[in-house]
Amino acid sequence: MNKSRRNYAIFLGFLMMMVVSCKQKDAEVTGEEITSLNIPELLSHAEQQLNLQLQMAQKHNRIPRTLTADGEVHWTKPRFDWTEGFFPGSLWYLYKHTGDEKWMENADAFQSHFEEHKLNTTNHDLGFVFNCSYGNGYEITKKSNYKDVLVTAAKSLTSRFDEKTGCIKSWDTHLGWQAKRGWQYPVIIDNMMNLELLFNATEITKDTTYRNIAIKHADTTLKNHFRQDNSSYHVVDYDPETGKVRKRQTAQGFSDESAWARGQAWGLYGYTVCYRYTKDVKYLKQADKIAKYIINQSTKIGNTIPYWDYDVNDIHAPKDVSAATITVSALLELDEYSKTSYKKFIDQLIFDLSSDKNLAKIGTNKNFVLKHSVGSIPHDNEIDVPLNYADYYFIEALLRYNNKYLRS
Ligand code: GLY
Repeated sequence: MNKSRRNYAIFLGFLMMMVVSCKQKDAEVTGEEITSLNIPELLSHAEQQLNLQLQMAQKHNRIPRTLTADGEVHWTKPRFDWTEGFFPGSLWYLYKHTGDEKWMENADAFQSHFEEHKLNTTNHDLGFVFNCSYGNGYEITKKSNYKDVLVTAAKSLTSRFDEKTGCIKSWDTHLGWQAKRGWQYPVIIDNMMNLELLFNATEITKDTTYRNIAIKHADTTLKNHFRQDNSSYHVVDYDPETGKVRKRQTAQGFSDESAWARGQAWGLYGYTVCYRYTKDVKYLKQADKIAKYIINQSTKIGNTIPYWDYDVNDIHAPKDVSAATITVSALLELDEYSKTSYKKFIDQLIFDLSSDKNLAKIGTNKNFVLKHSVGSIPHDNEIDVPLNYADYYFIEALLRYNNKYLRS
């Protein structure tokens, strides 16, 4: 090694020591340290359960979403469904984990059910649908037709962006229950999750239009969606003529001023992804603030699995496991970037998610991995049920944990 290389190596080593020593103590979490997590066993459990679910899905040739009130599988319909990407997404993750081609072939087959939805421009959920399915598929296989699907879906999503509001419109307001709310340009915190598709589209095409829209949306949301305590509103309605905020309300939370649990998780995940692609510290700071809010709330109730809304503290209220799985997956990534260590809370979350209460025994729960999630209480829809996205983010979290802490 010549002298300048050696000096460079010493400098790098010094830098790494600085980074490690800058990591602050664990975020405040009460309780004992968890020492008994068996991540490979949990992955194997999820794989066995998904194997049975796959057989069922193949028999019906449909995508499982949740359970109906009488305990039957609720399959997605041929029309656009914001949850349709999660089942093939879970199959991609199992392919990534096991290398068994069965998972890849079926991920490909099931995502093809909704490929045509890439042209849908009637709501914002294209990021959820296409990034979790074709996005994972493209990352793993680099197939060029997957790339084309992703770029077309991203283009459809950008058709909903407007310069005046600086946001992507979440819902059209002339149809369905949204038409009854008097909104003009509603934007929901969940929409932060659609930005990853746009960042990816710029990486694929080198066209910065997608990324610029994602950044503008993230900045506008940062300005208008958050309260002093760093919890977020669910819906911000804009005036499309002036771009000003008209109302701050909820659709799926307990009240306009409450903190809907899954919404906080979407925000946490969304700003962590924004930091991944931009390295802009304001996004990292926001993700840390949301994490702090979530951890404080969990500490208050003495459990990491939240009630469906952080402002509902009735011990009989339904819990939302899906909010917890999104949170833990996001924290596993945020922990990579943040000065705060989230390890203790992550361990506690996975421990609580994998308790007998929440983790279904093999062959039960119509082969969904987790129980006890909530779709939307105000809509009286999907209450205390398994959900395909709770499973997706749980499997994602297990893989992230495996890669981060267990791979040598
Ligand atoms: N984006 C819909 C939900 O989280 O329920």
